[in-house]
Amino acid sequence: MKTKLLRGEQEKELQEAAQLLRSGETVAFPTETVYGLGANALDETAVHKIYQAKGRPSDNPLIVHIYDRKQLLELTDQVSDTAVQLMDAFWPGPLTLIFKRREGAVPSCVTGGLDTVAVRMPNHPVAQRLLTLVDLPIAAPSANLSGKPSPTAASHVQHDLDGRIAAIVSGGCCAVGVESTVLDLSGKIPVILRPGGVTKEQLEQVIKTEVLYAAPYTSAEKTPRAPGMKYTHYAPDAPLYICTGTPEEAAGKIDQRLEMHKGKAGVMLSMQTLRFLENKDENLVVNLGSREDLKQITCNLFAALRYFDGVDVEAIYTENFPTEEIGAALMNRLNKAAGSKKI
Ligand code: TXA
Ligand code: MG
Repeated sequence: MKTKLLRGEQEKELQEAAQLLRSGETVAFPTETVYGLGANALDETAVHKIYQAKGRPSDNPLIVHIYDRKQLLELTDQVSDTAVQLMDAFWPGPLTLIFKRREGAVPSCVTGGLDTVAVRMPNHPVAQRLLTLVDLPIAAPSANLSGKPSPTAASHVQHDLDGRIAAIVSGGCCAVGVESTVLDLSGKIPVILRPGGVTKEQLEQVIKTEVLYAAPYTSAEKTPRAPGMKYTHYAPDAPLYICTGTPEEAAGKIDQRLEMHKGKAGVMLSMQTLRFLENKDENLVVNLGSREDLKQITCNLFAALRYFDGVDVEAIYTENFPTEEIGAALMNRLNKAAGSKKI
């Protein structure tokens, strides 16, 4: 299949993308978090194409994307007061809410057979315009090959999915750079199944009650609450190690390792930690930004992981970051990418 490249700022090209989606094809598009791979959520055959293109396990459910709250009522008939408060505060934006699914609302391949449905309203002008033109609920996981870092630029999508999907709509780099927060409201206490662009602290401030993180998935459990948790994620080709301690300590550990690899290792670090590093080969160093601005570090993370897939390295080294606010999402992704390997 030849994958069309369409420009999100061109209305005509967006109309073409909308037409492809309406006719049951898969189209990648930008959102404020990461690029998504969309298909008509009401069309089982179209949704199967998503799983196929990504190589995604079929029990991992998809998020349904909408542009208007009126669409929510077709998907669920149970919208709590808490959900309304959260939608008022964070939609459109990087917050996915899990609702009880309306019987027969979407084919079971969208929800991985669960009786719930995940819904999000993205805050990106291209995504919003496209969803409006299509006027259908659009199922969209991140537009990467399963297991690879999520795409934060159209070129990342092209790298992974060229020839496997009908079109890619471009729309620049994603401002948040990690996926949405997935929040389960089905129990007494709201539970974050995946930390993301909206932080636990922000959620608690709005709903004025405690929000919990879901316990990390252990393989003893058969089905985690977010089925995606049991799969490997974000893994670069070379093994990634997280070096703990102060910036100075982390840089010291990395310098030792770099000697061991005789130059065949990559580092992705904050500028503060980079200052302490003695061994610097520009091609193998990615500056993630300032530790004072974890949003920036988070935004640069996936592109950095992808960069090292394009160079010949035996290992990649990075550092530990605080887990408050957006740091929770950052360390969640880093730990997954590293398979929790710490030095
Ligand atoms: O920011 C995002 O959320 C991006 C953009 C494209 O919107 N999408 C995204 O989708 O990250 P995906 O498929 O890569 O991740 C969806 C996560 C998975 O961990 C999945 O298991 C969980 O949401 N999920 C989806 N539906 C669920 C449900 N009904 N119950 C529990 N978890 C669900
Ligand atoms: Mg994903």
